[in-house]
Amino acid sequence: MSKTIIVSNRLPVRITENDGEYVMSPSEGGLATGLGSIYRDGQNVWIGWPGMEVTEEKDQQRIQQQLAEMNLLPVYLSQEEINNYYEGFSNETLWPVFHYMAVYAKYEQPYWDSYYKVTEKFRDIILSVAEPDDIIWIHDYQLLLLPGMIRAVIPDISIGFFLHIPFPSFELFRLIPWRAELLEGMLGADLLGFHTFDDSRHFINAVTRILPINASANVMMVNDRAVMAETFPMGIDYDKYASLSKEKEVKDQLRELKETFQGMRMILSIDRLDYSKGILQRLQAFELFLQLYPEYMEKVVLYMIIVPSRDNVQQYRDLRDEIDKLVGGINARFRTNNWHPIHYFYRSFPIETLSALYNFADVGLVTPMRDGMNLVSKEYVASRNQNNGVLILSEMAGASRELIDAIIVNPNNIGAITRAIEEALVMPEPEQYRRMKQMRQVVAKFNIAHWVKLFMDRLQEVKQIQQSML
Ligand code: UDP
Ligand code: G6P
Repeated sequence: MSKTIIVSNRLPVRITENDGEYVMSPSEGGLATGLGSIYRDGQNVWIGWPGMEVTEEKDQQRIQQQLAEMNLLPVYLSQEEINNYYEGFSNETLWPVFHYMAVYAKYEQPYWDSYYKVTEKFRDIILSVAEPDDIIWIHDYQLLLLPGMIRAVIPDISIGFFLHIPFPSFELFRLIPWRAELLEGMLGADLLGFHTFDDSRHFINAVTRILPINASANVMMVNDRAVMAETFPMGIDYDKYASLSKEKEVKDQLRELKETFQGMRMILSIDRLDYSKGILQRLQAFELFLQLYPEYMEKVVLYMIIVPSRDNVQQYRDLRDEIDKLVGGINARFRTNNWHPIHYFYRSFPIETLSALYNFADVGLVTPMRDGMNLVSKEYVASRNQNNGVLILSEMAGASRELIDAIIVNPNNIGAITRAIEEALVMPEPEQYRRMKQMRQVVAKFNIAHWVKLFMDRLQEVKQIQQSML
């Protein structure tokens, strides 16, 4: 029987070392929950990096055995590979270019060499378990070359690829010295999925301008194989977020929040530390809000969670320092003896805490400069069982194509974010209900299970179309 092999840079569990012991915990992000239903099934397997360097062979084997019980297969990376492939090419070259921040991008040959070599490592581990009739589903920008490398060894195998970040316009993508190789790698897949129509269009445009390949609508002929690029906006586990508030732990935390913030309105912002998330601009907008609407002094708080991320990359460290300064400055400027406007946390929280906050906050403030999708905005909506609350959402987030009943803002327009905050805080309840109900319907219907099914079914269809063309 054929099996499904999921591949992503990061495994859904992360290993950390604590007093010489290896500890496993869930990785942040929606992918792990989303694909949970697949990889736990039968012979299926998820291949990826466990998130830290493990040097001793005996430790590697021990961890591998533990992971095997969860249908996970690790790809171990050396420190040099973590530096050059992960922090380097993935996060200092591709991430900034794909998020339209090309000034941050570094184009280093050793980064590229490592990216190529690590992809070969992933390929070899996949080949150690793959059979020709298996389905391989590869995820994200860290593995753009992988579909091509597998196709070269098993020509007929089914390969799906999904990009979780934006695919930039040709003018940005062309900056990358290894642009042709990257596209050729991606075209090893049979079906390429993107969050938005623009992303898939940008990809097809890059292919036809950089490679000697024509496209007819969304179909590209690659060595007589029809390859398709399509839009599949990723969803979340709606039922989970909608029902979490019934759990005792969430109820307890919600009660505490109500006590602590009695008589206060809460604006919630949750992100990984990243310059693509528009955190500084959001803080500036909140500062301007306090200045322009002093009647909200002691009546509103910004509850801001930043999850540490990629802290060996210079820009991320610099950003953290800037956030610290800005938050400190705003709190020092506006605070009173009984109140400070920003509650800032630099760490991650369990889902029960996130759920209590999503339930409690009057406003969800999500203003990335660029974001492939942004799941936080969908989690906020799914958690609003009373149908009240207001989402403010950047038009640069993939989610803004679906959540059209949010207050949509341009994240560069500080004045517009400021006005949106005020609009959200005074929005009449019937208007809140109308908008929230619409958005909840969208998030409920296009949930994660729907996304997985749509992609997998389409991959099967693409294979059939290819067969019929032979
Ligand atoms: N998240 C988390 N722990 C936290 C804060 C956030 O696991 O303390 C999760 C959050 O629930 C969401 C994910 O991290 O599912 C962030 O996904 P998103 O698409 O918003 O942004 P990304 O980090 O993928 O760029
Ligand atoms: C984004 C990317 C993922 C990545 C995640 C966390 O969601 O699309 O591929 O896993 O951020 O980043 P990290 O570098 O910690 O894996």
